[in-house]
Amino acid sequence: MFPSLSTVSAIQALFIVSSLARPWAEPANSPFKSTTGFSNPTFSTSAGGFADCISGHINLPITSPSTKLLITEPKDQYSLTATFFDFLKANSSLATTINGGPSTVSGNFNIAAKLCYPKNWSCESGNATVQFLTHGIGFNQSYWDFAEGYSFIDVAAKAGYPTFSFDRLGVGASDHPDPIQVVQARIQVQIIHSLVSLLRASKLANQAFKNVIGVGHSFGSIQSVGLLSIYPKDFDAVVLTGFSTSSLAIPLTFADFNSAIANQNQPARFAGLPNGYLVVDNAIGDQTAFYAYPNFDPALFLNADTHKQTFTLGEFFTLTSIIAPSPNFTGPVDAVIGEFDFIFAQGNASYPTDQAALVQPALFPGARREGSRSLIVGGAGHAINLHFEAQEMFGHVQGFVGGNGF
Ligand SMILES: *[C@@H]1O[C@H](CO)[C@@H](O)[C@H](O)[C@H]1NC(C)=O
Ligand SMILES: *[C@@H]1O[C@H](CO)[C@@H](O)[C@H](O)[C@H]1NC(C)=O
Ligand SMILES: *[C@@H]1O[C@H](CO)[C@@H](O)[C@H](O)[C@H]1NC(C)=O
Ligand SMILES: *[C@@H]1O[C@H](CO)[C@@H](O)[C@H](O)[C@H]1NC(C)=O
Ligand SMILES: *[C@@H]1O[C@H](CO)[C@@H](O)[C@H](O)[C@H]1NC(C)=O
Ligand SMILES: *[C@@H]1O[C@H](CO)[C@@H](O)[C@H](O)[C@H]1NC(C)=O
Repeated sequence: MFPSLSTVSAIQALFIVSSLARPWAEPANSPFKSTTGFSNPTFSTSAGGFADCISGHINLPITSPSTKLLITEPKDQYSLTATFFDFLKANSSLATTINGGPSTVSGNFNIAAKLCYPKNWSCESGNATVQFLTHGIGFNQSYWDFAEGYSFIDVAAKAGYPTFSFDRLGVGASDHPDPIQVVQARIQVQIIHSLVSLLRASKLANQAFKNVIGVGHSFGSIQSVGLLSIYPKDFDAVVLTGFSTSSLAIPLTFADFNSAIANQNQPARFAGLPNGYLVVDNAIGDQTAFYAYPNFDPALFLNADTHKQTFTLGEFFTLTSIIAPSPNFTGPVDAVIGEFDFIFAQGNASYPTDQAALVQPALFPGARREGSRSLIVGGAGHAINLHFEAQEMFGHVQGFVGGNGF
């Protein structure tokens, strides 16, 4: 039986409505040869429509070094606030008294991820390059594809590059295990190592990538630095945005955050998460740490703040512990920071000298110097991708990648 005309238009209407709500690409038209590695795969396009993407969960068996933290779940907000007070006070010894020494964690974790190809992309050569995007605190993978005109993924696609983005463990649609003993900085590095190995071994969408360019933001840059100090061959080139070698403003940042128990601050979104899952308390603290007024769209800011993402107490106490030099990394380095970055430069990226220019010599002494670059993004705050200057920065990164022959 043929569908009646009214059934056909109902189906068309449904298709139009659903493609407006969420622009699924038809799997039959999609450039993906296979959905290998992704469970419950779905298809979409990037914010500006320049990339076709596959999203789903990737299950990873992980064994990782960790730190035994001598703290328990905060029983309420008073107790959490007192912990941050102890951290912030003069001559605090909290960092050492809670360090119970090295440990190991293992488990199977589901990581929500998205692999995007430029429209009409086909790679037959096996020489493909992927840009591997690691977001920071307060965001999920959508930091890289936030809205039309603010999508790193679109700009990379226009320059011909596939991208891989993901929600880190404990964020967004990825698993949310124990926020103190499991979700720490070091396991995030191990997860990146596993994901990069899958991409290189054509275990994701049956596509082999020869070159993997790490692109991080903030805590995502810290993780990229930590990764290369242990696995210097994982990235062929690295881009560190919203990052510097100065941690002077980190305590000020956490004072500004007024870290709040996520399930109480955002009960509709985070009910059921243990009390070790935290968020920045309010929009004022969010603005101070991440945005430089007036160089952002208030509507975009409010959208991001309304959807603010979690970090964990375990990550807080191990945040900078994974930063170490990578003398064996021989690729090029691109260090990028907003002119008014608060978290890594206390509001002035040129004070006392150019903070971006210090990164490569301090952390990557063996890097390919000729190809390395640094940039202070005029006008931008810490969350560069959500400022008016985002496109300029995205273009700079594509120039760095292409200029190095990838
Ligand atoms: C700082 O604290 C340590 C113990 O954690 C103590 O030995 C030291 O005397 C303190 N410094 C000052 C200036 O009080
Ligand atoms: C992709 O290919 C289709 C069909 O060949 C074409 O209409 C479209 O313009 C192409 N898109 C891009 C971004 O090149
Ligand atoms: C793949 O890369 C190799 C080495 O960089 C190069 O010699 C070769 O021409 C490339 N092949 C294609 C099809 O781009
Ligand atoms: C990721 O963040 C975006 C924008 O902030 C939000 O709309 C979306 O719901 C988040 N996704 C998940 C799975 O939490
Ligand atoms: C770095 O290279 C040195 C010398 O080849 C080697 O001994 C060391 O294990 C390497 N370290 C890492 C983390 O790869
Ligand atoms: C930032 O610091 C530099 C170096 O001290 C100084 O020259 C510059 O005026 C400062 N910028 C602002 C906006 O204060």
